[in-house]
Amino acid sequence: ARGCATRPMRAPPASSWPPWRSQLLLLLLIFPLSSAFFGISSEESHTDDDGRVHLHVGGVFPMEAGAGGWPGGQACLPAVEMALEHINNKTDVLPGYKLHLNQSNSKCQPGLAIQELYKFVYEGPNKLMLLAGCSPVTTVIAETAPEWNLVVISYGASSPALSDRARFPRLFRTHPSANMQNPTRVDLFEMFKWKRISILQSVEEVFTTTAKDLEELCKKKGIRAERQSFYGDPTDAVRTLARQDARIIVGLFYVTEARRVLCQAFKQGLYGRKYVWFFIGWYADTWYEPQPDEHLSCTREEMRKAAEFHFTTESIMLSKDVEPGVSGITGRQFEDMLRKKLNNTDVANLGGWPEAPLAYDALWALALAFNCTRSHLKAPLKLEDFTYTNLGMAQLLFDCVKNTSFKGVSGNVKFSDSGDRIAKTQIEQLQGGRYVVVGRYDNSFHKFTWTEDEIRWPQNKGPPPDSTIIRESLLTVSNGLYFVVCLLAFFGVVLSVACFIFNTKYGYRGVIVQSQPQCNNILLAGSALCSASLFLMGLPAEGIHLSDAEFTMLCHSRISILMIGFTFAYGSMFAKVWIVHRIGASE
Ligand SMILES: *[C@@H]1O[C@H](CO)[C@@H](O)[C@H](O)[C@H]1NC(C)=O
Ligand SMILES: *[C@@H]1O[C@H](CO)[C@@H](O)[C@H](O)[C@H]1NC(C)=O
Ligand SMILES: *[C@@H]1O[C@H](CO)[C@@H](O)[C@H](O)[C@H]1NC(C)=O
Ligand SMILES: *[C@@H]1O[C@H](CO)[C@@H](O)[C@H](O)[C@H]1NC(C)=O
Ligand SMILES: *[C@@H]1O[C@H](CO)[C@@H](O)[C@H](O)[C@H]1NC(C)=O
Repeated sequence: ARGCATRPMRAPPASSWPPWRSQLLLLLLIFPLSSAFFGISSEESHTDDDGRVHLHVGGVFPMEAGAGGWPGGQACLPAVEMALEHINNKTDVLPGYKLHLNQSNSKCQPGLAIQELYKFVYEGPNKLMLLAGCSPVTTVIAETAPEWNLVVISYGASSPALSDRARFPRLFRTHPSANMQNPTRVDLFEMFKWKRISILQSVEEVFTTTAKDLEELCKKKGIRAERQSFYGDPTDAVRTLARQDARIIVGLFYVTEARRVLCQAFKQGLYGRKYVWFFIGWYADTWYEPQPDEHLSCTREEMRKAAEFHFTTESIMLSKDVEPGVSGITGRQFEDMLRKKLNNTDVANLGGWPEAPLAYDALWALALAFNCTRSHLKAPLKLEDFTYTNLGMAQLLFDCVKNTSFKGVSGNVKFSDSGDRIAKTQIEQLQGGRYVVVGRYDNSFHKFTWTEDEIRWPQNKGPPPDSTIIRESLLTVSNGLYFVVCLLAFFGVVLSVACFIFNTKYGYRGVIVQSQPQCNNILLAGSALCSASLFLMGLPAEGIHLSDAEFTMLCHSRISILMIGFTFAYGSMFAKVWIVHRIGASE
């Protein structure tokens, strides 16, 4: 149905203009020959006063939040306009061309964005590429634009669902995906030798995809990951974590949920020396302070206590490098320029302010891709000849964006195979109520760079273990006690032997004969054995080591000797009592 609807409306390819029209132009306007030639090749590419050919790109910018959207265009559009000025002013990028942006407001609504996309395609000159921001809008534009062989570059969409080449064949992002922080987390786990972690997530698509990706990465590295989800109220999920003896916990949720989780973590005692929390880095710096309208049952002090020493991971969006990149300005200079362009309005409250460097770099990536395409095009074909049916040039544009590698104001700009931005990640830790950048992680080289601020642990005891450690230890009787008991046992044996000798020596006396000497002898033997078993009971004592086989034998023999001795002693006594009873009963 889509094919039927679009085909009759498709903008006619430039080459299909009737030839008489160019001749008419030539005759009527008495153009210089060269510019008339441009007129033939593409009616839509006007030349500038200084003889430069216009190249057109389309961009949608969400200028207002709407219902829960992202008003990123407020800062990103000025950043893109600034990039446009810089690119058009530079002589070594796209010489002979001038970039022209046609922008519209998508309000972060996919339906409106589709309408704008149709306008880009069917009205005005051919667009060579599109810019898009806000995840829902990027999703629909990146799904639709390939129908016209258009490459889409997104400056503000973090949903991991967009990293799908089959569904979005021509999408690239200068905004790092939310998954980008997972390799950092996993390498941190490896560094601290944690083999077991727990993930606590709220049920949202972006967090579920991130959690799944983290689980897979963990599995590859032999780390066991368990996942707990909650919707709204995290009480039960946190209780389950406590029951599972979770120690290393990665939290994936929005900031209001994060406060609830932290309060519950305090209530269940999941904080302090034995626990490590990883949170998302884009919360505000004092996010853990309770908000009056959320009615948390934790005080500010308790929340601070529970939040202390947690880690956050966040993609770096503004380069701290002092060397200027391809645009000739550094990240800091970019911020100053943008602030000036925005007339020093309150930038912190402006939608998309943190993402503005990404928007600036998105346009540079686009311009450099045009520059690359220009130098790779075969002779008669020119950039301005692009039509929505020109597969060869579309593929070249795609390959050039894919090969992008330059230093922008947001760091090095490179794309992965799935079109994701490869960016550095920054690791922060809350130390004494203040976030401290402890290190950065380079996702392309899988390497950490640590800052001079070291990671700190409660009580300076180093990273806690990832679970309760089960350690075997040998408990032994102290030597002093062992020897004292042995001595007493020895006396017991000597006494038994002495009694036996006495019994045998005076066996002829009536008293002895009447006292059942056989029973007495057996009783003595039993007592001697019981005493002797004490020698074995105290083994292994301090400093005496036994092999496993010997230990087994010892265990069996001390029980057997005690049992035999007890049976002899008690049995003979019972026999005696029974004989006395018989004698007494028969009288
Ligand atoms: C354009 O570049 C020139 C130097 O090449 C510079 O003097 C001028 O200020 C730039 N203009 C803008 C608008 O950036
Ligand atoms: C910009 O887009 C509008 C429609 O959205 C179109 O009317 C106009 O011609 C375009 N301008 C340029 C310079 O592309
Ligand atoms: C900044 O001020 C200038 C001149 O007063 C104005 O033209 C421009 O629109 C203003 N820009 C913003 C973003 O308010
Ligand atoms: C643009 O392409 C030309 C070759 O066509 C190259 O010399 C130049 O360095 C490129 N510009 C940038 C900024 O890479
Ligand atoms: C992209 O990079 C590859 C490998 O470096 C190279 O072979 C290819 O020619 C490049 N393509 C373009 C269009 O620059």
